[in-house]
Amino acid sequence: MNEQYILGIETSCDETAAAIIKNGNQIVANVVASQIESHKRFGGVVPEIASRHHVEQMTLVLEETFKKANMSIDDIDAIAVTEGPGLVGALLVGVNAAKALAFANDKPLIGVHHIAGHIYANRLLKEFRFPLLALVVSGGHTELILMREHGSFEIIGETRDDAAGEAYDKVARTLDLPYPGGPQIDKLASEGKPTIDFPRAWLEDGSYDFSFSGLKSAVINKLHNAEQRSQVIPKEDVAASFQASVVEVLTTKTYQAAKEYNVEQIIVAGGVAANQGLRSALEEKFKDENVELIVPPLSLCTDNAAMIAAAGSIAYEQGHRAGWDLNANPSLSLERYSLRKE
Ligand code: KG4
Ligand code: ZN
Repeated sequence: MNEQYILGIETSCDETAAAIIKNGNQIVANVVASQIESHKRFGGVVPEIASRHHVEQMTLVLEETFKKANMSIDDIDAIAVTEGPGLVGALLVGVNAAKALAFANDKPLIGVHHIAGHIYANRLLKEFRFPLLALVVSGGHTELILMREHGSFEIIGETRDDAAGEAYDKVARTLDLPYPGGPQIDKLASEGKPTIDFPRAWLEDGSYDFSFSGLKSAVINKLHNAEQRSQVIPKEDVAASFQASVVEVLTTKTYQAAKEYNVEQIIVAGGVAANQGLRSALEEKFKDENVELIVPPLSLCTDNAAMIAAAGSIAYEQGHRAGWDLNANPSLSLERYSLRKE
């Protein structure tokens, strides 16, 4: 096989990222410029600030990526970019950079769904074997996705309200922890004990859907009640109890779905996949099972462009090409993305 090099670009939220990968699964260069420091003082991502930073960083990040890879645009076979979902102003920066580069250098352009990217981050570690089940847990998504072949995504369960990462961030804010709250709660949880019995939302029998808003409210109520009674509940124990509830529901539903669909592999994707509690609970749950569990290293759990290039590589092989009318699509659906023919 000829060598294939894909340039990936990702700007859907608060990371400006570019990467080059070889043959769909080897990272040649992977550059991420995080804006977290700029958003921290606002307690969350401010869309206008995100867009402005992307504009400032995009060219620098691209230059650094080519420098690190010791390559030029002439060596690239195709350019893959996140077209959605995400913040529209942020997505537009990446989409326009990709279009400009592709047009000026006569390269194929490929639009990538951000969650397809998170899933394909795992292909940078292991070749996929189907059927596989992906547990996607990020700031905007909580989904169980069944893949029967490359590029096909069937959502078998999803959150009915908050995403897991969103619940982490909101609970963290109630505990006065800085943004992003997920890693902070994870760290605190490891220092505390799950002494509080917060609810687990199992929903109706057999559903693989999730719900985290009740849990979030239960945590907030508990803290308010304690405050009114001048009681002090250690933050570590609140974090550990909250995390125990999230992790138990995520691992149990993933386990049940893995059994029902008789999958070969389980892959975990998205920012919350960095959670130590979730990682060890999944390892424990699947250690005696005949299923391969793939959990990406922390750097590939959060937003990056290597994952976009990895998903783009498969789309490229399958013949998908975007036109010059490619646009940012803030609410792009994963299932429609996987079914469409370009
Ligand atoms: O995938 P991601 O980087 O961005 C989105 O596409 O949303 O995920 C960001 C989310 C945030 O909500 C952040 O708090 C959460 O992932 N997160 C974590 C951890 N690291 C990041 N949540 C729990 N534990 C962590 N260690
Ligand atoms: Zn993401």
